[in-house]
Amino acid sequence: MPCSTPAAGSLIERRRRTSSPSLGTFPLFPADPLCLERGQGAHVWDTSGKRYLDCTAQNLCISVGYAHPVTLTMVGEQMGRMQHCTTLFHHEQPVAYAEELVARMPEGSGDWVVHLVNSGAEAIDLAFMMARAHTGHFEMVSLRNAYHGLHFGAAGSTAFSPCRFATASLQGFVHAMHPDQYKGAFGPGAGITPYLDELRRTIFSSTAGHIAGMIIEPIQGFGGVVPMPPGYMKEAFRITREAGGLAICDEVQTGFGRMGSHYWGFEAHDAVPDIVVLGKGMGNGFPIAGVIARREIAQSFTQVRFFNTYGSNPMAAAAARSVLKVVDDEGLQANALARGQQLLAGLHRLQQRHSLIGDVRGTGLILGFELVRNRTTREPVVEEGERIHRRIRDAGVIMVKGSATRNTFRINPPMGITAEDCEVLLDVLERAFAAG
Ligand SMILES: Cc1ncc(COP(=O)(O)O)c(C=O)c1O
Repeated sequence: MPCSTPAAGSLIERRRRTSSPSLGTFPLFPADPLCLERGQGAHVWDTSGKRYLDCTAQNLCISVGYAHPVTLTMVGEQMGRMQHCTTLFHHEQPVAYAEELVARMPEGSGDWVVHLVNSGAEAIDLAFMMARAHTGHFEMVSLRNAYHGLHFGAAGSTAFSPCRFATASLQGFVHAMHPDQYKGAFGPGAGITPYLDELRRTIFSSTAGHIAGMIIEPIQGFGGVVPMPPGYMKEAFRITREAGGLAICDEVQTGFGRMGSHYWGFEAHDAVPDIVVLGKGMGNGFPIAGVIARREIAQSFTQVRFFNTYGSNPMAAAAARSVLKVVDDEGLQANALARGQQLLAGLHRLQQRHSLIGDVRGTGLILGFELVRNRTTREPVVEEGERIHRRIRDAGVIMVKGSATRNTFRINPPMGITAEDCEVLLDVLERAFAAG
């Protein structure tokens, strides 16, 4: 398929020539990739000047919107004053950010401290290292269908064969069955009991019986928007602690109000973890990630020297502070809730008209719908999905597909998306499905 403009064609060719092919293993529209130039609010423009509603938010990184004036001002001012300051020194920005972040943890939930790094996978690794240092145990449990990043340590906890090398990888990770209520191993609507029993068996049979921790995403995002069913996370964390481990919650996608109903995903499950991992939308596009850990856990991680050159960068901290401020000042958590309800209602109407849509799920602005051949067998639909995906793009909306079978469309726009934009999205989806 030809590229949309000569400028796009040239960019694609230049990237092919000198950028590593390893940067292209998650292709979106491989035959005709999108070449983007700028963004504003919830929209992006490609090199031909065509505007798109961005329902990816760049993998949920653009939390409060492209070119948000508060982010621009706070980062710009910090850049002009001092663009970097390592943790060898003290600097106001990361300290103020840690204070503001800790103040957003549930009241009375503990004595929390913050450690900042640069990417989600680094933060996941840090959580694992802290858990191992604190417990003295090695093995870490994660769920099948989980995505926690692809750097060396984090990659061990991610549970997708397309993301794993067939050579020795880091040891010490076991995967328990994920409690998917739509098409999980124990059948539709099986509830949580068989999955909790299986977790106990996994710890008994695949670990030394004591573990360093268990990590859970409140909604498995890349895995196809699979929410943890009520009660699972709380009980899984109880089992984890019984086995000597720490409860780790991966809030890289679900944090900062995107769930709408709660500021943190774990709050929706009445389950307070021991370590919370943050990333993505935390910096509204600026690379920053980190962990919030109970003080005594972080203290255990001082036995050896640990340093991360760019961790606690003041520009990144300024960007992250802008997110906290805008989410509060503009009521973006409430907007995520309202827009999520609007979209869920529209998607359910769409599901009634189009039998290909087997399931609609999610919360706030972490939504997905799954295409199936037959609503009883739930066999994934792929080819029709590709055609529908292309029509959605042509109509000016960008979405990605998730899950191992790539048949779940994901809706994760910037959190300031308007009611009008949501109507546009629903209209685009209706027309894309109606075209057959
Ligand atoms: C839930 C979750 N955790 C961790 C990560 C890893 O983040 P990063 O890509 O910044 O390493 C991701 C990335 O998609 C994610 O979705």
